[in-house]
Amino acid sequence: MILILNGPNLNLLGVREPGIYGSRGMESYLDELRRRYPDIEIEYYQSNHEGALIDKLHEVGFREDCQGIVFNAGAYTHTSLALADAISAIPTPVVEVHISNVHSREEIRHRSMISAVCRGVIAGFGLDSYRLAIEALR
Ligand code: DQA
Repeated sequence: MILILNGPNLNLLGVREPGIYGSRGMESYLDELRRRYPDIEIEYYQSNHEGALIDKLHEVGFREDCQGIVFNAGAYTHTSLALADAISAIPTPVVEVHISNVHSREEIRHRSMISAVCRGVIAGFGLDSYRLAIEALR
């Protein structure tokens, strides 16, 4: 099982700033991923709340059947020591993903609180960033 974990405002994918994040919603993209990887159980969870994301990392991060977590922490990427601590606390590898190339955007998005405790980072490939992270974990 691989968990795709999305943070704040990513419930609005397809609607929110389509020039940056595209016009496709997550549900249709998840259908495509599940068709593409029929042998992998792909779970999905999104929350706008930092604590709920931490609870999910704790819940899934010790599960023997979880081979990895694909994590787009949204803006919490740039601010959350608590998320970094949660990732450090769990044995399951976490891949940090971003739809946009955060390094070509405002300077505040260049800093990530979580990169150092993630297995790796994938950014800038649109929704395909999630698939590339699955490739890295499978
Ligand atoms: C994002 C980039 C973040 O800077 C931003 O706050 C997001 C989305 C991305 O996927 O490109 O919410 O993580």
